[in-house]
Amino acid sequence: MYKLFFDLVFKRMDPEQAHYLAFRWIRLAARTPVLRTFAAAALAPRYEELRTEALGLRMHGPFGLAAGFDKNAVAIDGMAMLGFDHVEIGTVTAQAQPGNPKKRLFRLVPDRALINRMGFNNEGSAAVAARLGARVPVFKTVVGVNIGKTKVVPEEEAAADYVASTERLARHADYLVVNVSSPNTPGLRNLQATESLRPLLTAVREAADRTVTDRRVPLLVKIAPDLADEDVDAVADLALELGLDGIIATNTTIAREGLGLKSSPDLVKETGGLSGAPVKERSLEVLRRLYARVGDRLVLVGVGGIENAEDAWQRILAGATLIQGYSAFVYEGPFYARAIHKGLAARLAASPYETLAEAVGAETRKATQ
Ligand SMILES: Cc1cc2nc3c(=O)[nH]c(=O)nc-3n(C[C@H](O)[C@H](O)[C@H](O)COP(=O)(O)O)c2cc1C
Repeated sequence: MYKLFFDLVFKRMDPEQAHYLAFRWIRLAARTPVLRTFAAAALAPRYEELRTEALGLRMHGPFGLAAGFDKNAVAIDGMAMLGFDHVEIGTVTAQAQPGNPKKRLFRLVPDRALINRMGFNNEGSAAVAARLGARVPVFKTVVGVNIGKTKVVPEEEAAADYVASTERLARHADYLVVNVSSPNTPGLRNLQATESLRPLLTAVREAADRTVTDRRVPLLVKIAPDLADEDVDAVADLALELGLDGIIATNTTIAREGLGLKSSPDLVKETGGLSGAPVKERSLEVLRRLYARVGDRLVLVGVGGIENAEDAWQRILAGATLIQGYSAFVYEGPFYARAIHKGLAARLAASPYETLAEAVGAETRKATQ
């Protein structure tokens, strides 16, 4: 049904327009009690065996919405209604900014992929903090807050920019993510180098502790799939050294390997971050590498090309406690999260593991023993 709808309606529209239209419907449904009760019952069934505890938080399951879909925190309940067990809002920057000129989002339908160069279009951390502060949740869901650097702020002043967002947003965050891996803000990914990352993460940690004194806000860093293996190791070691809570692997890629055979070569040439099926393999590889290095000492969040329950299960076996998706939601539609939950529950039942937690990293542990 959704595939037909996608072909007839969304595919004929500009991808960004289609995004806003879908977004409006989701928000409308979430605001309408009858619709939201019906939708949540159909799309967000709960599986006791998928209950997940991570980062000191309790969730209905491990699967959440990746950052970038709800940049301004306007549809948290809508996304929970669709079955996402956590919603990562943002990326939010200290200053409001319009993002890159349009067109900036492209669908590579035959490759089940997207290319985006949105450029952190968002209302800024003050406005988003005010919205989160005023929010009366309908669904109890975990809210992650993903922060990034304002485009006009020079790289040398990045830490102060992240700190400003942290001071405004940390109190509203169940967990906080430092995004240093989007390819669409010039220089941002240089912050992944440990000499830049160490002071940045230290400053954000201090700012979170200074502004939120009644609990410790979990802090994670989100990395790119384009990091060399040694750099993945370096970030993992740094995260342990600084007492971070987790790593999100991965963001979109600037690589274009294996593309252009199915999707139009003109589309493949568009600048930006590639996501969806083509990033699956490298995201999984980065996750395995991270788990082999840090084991259970950090919470690893697997994201990148998760299209179905099998992909989600593979991430869990590789070492992810939490998993996220974005691009496949565009192609799979409102039943995306439900299919993942159902399939995960079935796979867990058929596996030798009693609990999901036992399955986390099981394959990577076997391979490295
Ligand atoms: C249109 C679009 C916008 C995105 N914006 C952000 C963002 O603002 N911050 C961020 O950390 N990741 C952003 N991402 C990356 C996703 O969160 C995710 O890491 C990546 O797309 C890989 O997952 P997927 O293959 O399931 O899409 C964006 C992705 C897309 C497709």
